[in-house]
Amino acid sequence: ASLKDLYGDYFLIGTCTPYALLRSEDYEGLISQQYNSLTSENEAKPENLLDINACIAEPEKYNESPAVKFDTIEPTLQYCQKNGVKYRLHALVWHSQTPTALFYENYDTSGNRVSPELMSKRLENYIKQILEWCEENYPGVVYAVDVVNEAASAGQNSEWYRTFGDYSFITKAFEYADKYAPEDMKLFYNDYGMASASKQQNVINLLREAKEAGWVDGIGMQSHLSATDNMDNHVNALKIYADLGYEMQLTELDITVPWSGTEEEKFAQQATAYENLFRNLVEAKKQGYNITSVTIWGVADNFSWKNSQLPILFNADLSKKPAFDALVALGEEAKLDATVSNLQAIVNDMEAMDTTMYTSDSVAALTDAVNAAKALLAEGANPTQAQLDQAIADIEAAQAGLVPNTPEEENPGENPDPGDTPNPDETPGPDENPNPDASPDPDKAPDQVEEPSKTGDNMPLAALTVFSVCAAVAAGVVFVKKRHLR
Ligand code: GLA
Repeated sequence: ASLKDLYGDYFLIGTCTPYALLRSEDYEGLISQQYNSLTSENEAKPENLLDINACIAEPEKYNESPAVKFDTIEPTLQYCQKNGVKYRLHALVWHSQTPTALFYENYDTSGNRVSPELMSKRLENYIKQILEWCEENYPGVVYAVDVVNEAASAGQNSEWYRTFGDYSFITKAFEYADKYAPEDMKLFYNDYGMASASKQQNVINLLREAKEAGWVDGIGMQSHLSATDNMDNHVNALKIYADLGYEMQLTELDITVPWSGTEEEKFAQQATAYENLFRNLVEAKKQGYNITSVTIWGVADNFSWKNSQLPILFNADLSKKPAFDALVALGEEAKLDATVSNLQAIVNDMEAMDTTMYTSDSVAALTDAVNAAKALLAEGANPTQAQLDQAIADIEAAQAGLVPNTPEEENPGENPDPGDTPNPDETPGPDENPNPDASPDPDKAPDQVEEPSKTGDNMPLAALTVFSVCAAVAAGVVFVKKRHLR
């Protein structure tokens, strides 16, 4: 069973891993089977992407634009690109695992702290270089970035706060990230303890300016939880953020086992906790809450930062724990529900479709497939996943097999009477069609059949060329500026 498959209709399912595990057959096998999103636990943190030694060696050269390096994340990004896996970039601005010299004149901690103005430049250029590098080299791979991590938790106890003298670095970080990120790279604030009411209020206040400016997309709830936590509360807090317009992700989920009990009891409680959480998430998603990704913070218990509390879905030998089995059982239900809705939507589309332009035999095949699907969807039918999947495949095949009527067979009542005055706004009737190539292509699915062009047919070639060039330029502009058009 595969979590990414079972929950694929709801959200991405990720894990965090160092690149080293992706080079081992066993770990890579498990990761690629279960997950479609990866986060580097440490390799993308400032201590790794900032080349502080280069900055210290040539402080003038790097005064406004810190040296960066990508050797720690490049192999993982290559892996993701090659395998169609999504990547969460964690994290740009953080009080921890960030060289202190970044905040000092000449990158020298024995001297003075830099001014907020210079720090803003360093911040902007750090973000710019990283986001541009990702987009240039791995377009579309990085789908989410933790632009700011744990600023509410760190409070004033952070070099960022000390250097700026306030929290303005949060708004600035999102402003710069928005300036350089492509549209498909979502910008997140990430923190722990996000279900506590006071933390929640604090986070919402700290993000208000950036949110109102449209620079922040989402909130990551790290979700370092324990089996005794109330999972309803956790997801209720998520809904409050989501109601404010934030896209939501669980970014570092782990659920530690309780302190007492036999291992069997502990694992059973942990399984129940994972199941409660995911049941709430799936329900919330069905209710329309914008939850896009859930990342489990480690591949197996022994790699977890809380390894002694066994918080992950797999044992050190990669065998499944009860928590994994519980998520699979719940995921099977969730997938079945999603497939039922999906099939219902397909049936509705098919029933609303105008089939008069297809041969009666090919329409009959589609009608049979739709009727078979309706029987599966009927009250009390209790279809299996395999039956539902088959029904969808059958409808798709019948739809692809629709054969358009040849002009002679078409119902003449629907076409303009040749004796009528031709109406230039109407698509030419089959008898008047000067171009035999423009008749519908029987190999194409109905939604791919081109409409005869109304503008193109009579347009002089030069005008058409000018029109195409303008359209291409306009498309290019839209592409480049897409993030700012939201
Ligand atoms: C925080 C950070 C993570 C990681 C964990 C421990 O949650 O956001 O990057 O350091 O602590 O793994």
